[in-house]
Amino acid sequence: MLIAESQKPKTMIKVAPSILSADFSCLAQEIKKVELGGADLLHIDVMDGHFVPNITIGAVVVKDIRKVTKLPLDVHLMIENPQDYVDSFVKSGSDMITFHIETISKSRLRTISRELRRKGVKVGISLNPPTPLKKILPVLDLVDFILVMSVHPGFGGQDFIQSAVPKIKQLRKVFKGDISVDGGINERTGRMVVKAGANVLAAGSYIFKSHNYSKVIRSLKCLI
Ligand code: DX5
Ligand code: ZN
Repeated sequence: MLIAESQKPKTMIKVAPSILSADFSCLAQEIKKVELGGADLLHIDVMDGHFVPNITIGAVVVKDIRKVTKLPLDVHLMIENPQDYVDSFVKSGSDMITFHIETISKSRLRTISRELRRKGVKVGISLNPPTPLKKILPVLDLVDFILVMSVHPGFGGQDFIQSAVPKIKQLRKVFKGDISVDGGINERTGRMVVKAGANVLAAGSYIFKSHNYSKVIRSLKCLI
C-alpha cells in the first residue's frame, strides 16, 4: 500500500548496530543478520586502551568487514592521536569517521575534515557525558554529524546516562545534520532521545543480545 506523502513520518530514524556486542566468532553472519534486518549503518567501535580502558577493533578488521557488507561503515574512533590512524581507516573502507572532541584540536579537525570530505568520507564529532556542549559548538561547521555519548565510552551494555537528553535538545536547536546517540539505547531510552531531536540510534547489546535482530531494529526505526 502506498503511503500518502503527508502521512509519512517527518523524520526517519536510522539504526546503527554496534558490533561490539556481536559474536566475533561469526562476525560475518552477525553483520549479514543486521543488514537483512534493516540496519542503516554498521557502527564499529575502535578502542585503544588509552583514551578508553578497553582494546577492540583496528583497521585490518574494518578492511575485512568491508568485504562482507554493503552497509555504510560508521567508524567510532575512541583513540588518542586519531590523526595518526585516520588514513588507515579510510583505506580500509570507512564511510563515516567519528572523532572525539576530547582527542582533537579544532585546527587539526579542520585539516582532516577537508581531506575526508574530499574523499567522500563523512566526518563526525563525539563528546563524552562529562564534556559540556560548548566544547563542540566551534567545530559544528567542520562536521557532517554528531555522536552524543550516553555512556562513558569503553564497553557495551552500560546504563543510559540521562544528561544526554538535554544535550540533544540543545544541539537540535543549532545543528541540522544527523544527531546520533550511542550507549544504553533500547526502546525506552531510544524514544527519549528521538523526542529530544536525535535521528540516529547506535545500539549494541539491545540488538545483538536479542533473539530477533530484525524485530528489534524495526522497533527502533519506528520510534517517532
Ligand atoms: C561504547 C560504544 C558503544 C557501545 C554501545 O563505548 O561506543 O557503541 O557499543 O553499546 P550498548 O548499546 O550496549 O550500550
Ligand atoms: Zn560507539
